[in-house]
Amino acid sequence: MLDDTAISALRRALQDADYTLDAVSERLGETGLSGLARNSSVPTLRTLAGATDAQAELIRFWLLGRPVAAATIRPLLGCPDALVQAGLIHANGDQWQAAVELKPHGSQARSGWICSDQTPLDGRIVPPSEDFVLGASPASTTLAQLVPPGHYGTVLDLGTGCGIQGLHLNAENLVATDLNQRALDLARISLGLSEVTADLRLGSLYEPVAGERFDLIVTNPPYVISPPRPGRLIYRDGGFAGDDLMREVVTGAAAHLNPGGVLVVLGNWAITDRPWDERLAEWITPTGCDALVLQREVLDPYEYIELWLADAGLAGRAEYLPRYRQWLDYFADSGITSVGLGWLVLRRAERAHPEVRFEDWPHAVHQPVGTAFADFFAAVDDARAPEAEFWARCWRQHPELTQETFGEPGAADPEHLVLRQGYGFGRAMEPGTALAAVVGACDGELPLAALVAAVSGLLEVGSQELADDLLPRLRELVALGYLVR
Ligand SMILES: C[S@@+](CC[C@H](N)C(=O)[O-])C[C@H]1O[C@@H](n2cnc3c(N)ncnc32)[C@H](O)[C@@H]1O
Repeated sequence: MLDDTAISALRRALQDADYTLDAVSERLGETGLSGLARNSSVPTLRTLAGATDAQAELIRFWLLGRPVAAATIRPLLGCPDALVQAGLIHANGDQWQAAVELKPHGSQARSGWICSDQTPLDGRIVPPSEDFVLGASPASTTLAQLVPPGHYGTVLDLGTGCGIQGLHLNAENLVATDLNQRALDLARISLGLSEVTADLRLGSLYEPVAGERFDLIVTNPPYVISPPRPGRLIYRDGGFAGDDLMREVVTGAAAHLNPGGVLVVLGNWAITDRPWDERLAEWITPTGCDALVLQREVLDPYEYIELWLADAGLAGRAEYLPRYRQWLDYFADSGITSVGLGWLVLRRAERAHPEVRFEDWPHAVHQPVGTAFADFFAAVDDARAPEAEFWARCWRQHPELTQETFGEPGAADPEHLVLRQGYGFGRAMEPGTALAAVVGACDGELPLAALVAAVSGLLEVGSQELADDLLPRLRELVALGYLVR
């Protein structure tokens, strides 16, 4: 693979040709970029319209995987011979063609490049090889958004693939692992080009980090639940029974987290004849971590299997139906009735009774949603404050909380009053008259006890009675981020 000198030469060449995130995005515009997001090269080719400047040639070569005349592309590569020798370019006589995709990529933290296997464009169906290395996928971006923002000391990127998470993280020491040596080779290029220092290690799950602890672990492991078979796709099929790989990731995390450390996982879990949250609670509760688990979607076996057969490039092929039947039998034999897709975020809280919540949450969320997870973990202590302390606090409404009222036009009182979060998970709730009045008065000036007493006067109910009734609901409003300090 490429050594550090070659990687630096390649970076300089990419920069010299303005093959950078901002410049390429500006050139391709919204139309070209959304075309590429749909795996269509046509809008980009139309935009380039036969241009022969260095940036246009690199877009055709690295982004679209088109053959380019050797005489044209050679001087634009920085380290052409090293790239050919490493197998990253096919040098076919006077036409050269990239064997990998090199794509500008960026985040709030930095901008750089991602080196991965090529995304088939324009409807081409290419069954991936066993050691295929995925580029920036929607799952990669979602995982990056789930991470509570901040600067971390030690971070583990488990199953790094092309190394994309490294471009999104703010880490002093980054360890990136993978079971696939090819992934580590390409991650080394992505991270080297993007000037992210990382310790790359080969191995399964937590094996390469035995005895080590981290402030943050991020992973979208190969979570696809599929029948075990030789020649599995390493980037998505974990090779474990059912969702055992996800269970290993979760149950093994506490031993690798520093106190206060966070595990962020995007994945799938099996749904059986037991409630999904009950199964996942068995993984999480023994870790002693606080956790918030959101099930974003549930797919029936047919939808799930069709999705992943298409992903493997099998649509329309002879193996499609036999593989479909085998997969259905596997689900039936394993008692899997559907599959949950979602997010698990755990924090090593070290408290006697951790806060573990499961929610079906198919609704749109506000990005970056990682902030909402951070706020949730921070709110747990506030919500659990001793009663006297809780009443004495001067809570305020979250600044982006709004109130909506609905009812018949002209009616004296609204039929429904809804509190809606224009932030985080975008939660909404109907508080009812008394709670709405208390929340409405929470402006950070007066202790909660005084507000409840005032509202009890207005509503002509006993102040203690109202306080007893509202306390658990007010604690919930704090835990869920409606009321903040
Ligand atoms: C879905 S990809 C995620 C890649 C990348 N983290 C991202 O955000 O796009 C899963 C990665 O896990 C790796 N992997 C598969 N089995 C693994 C295992 N047992 N231990 C560690 N990594 C594994 C795969 O090679 C692949 O790179």
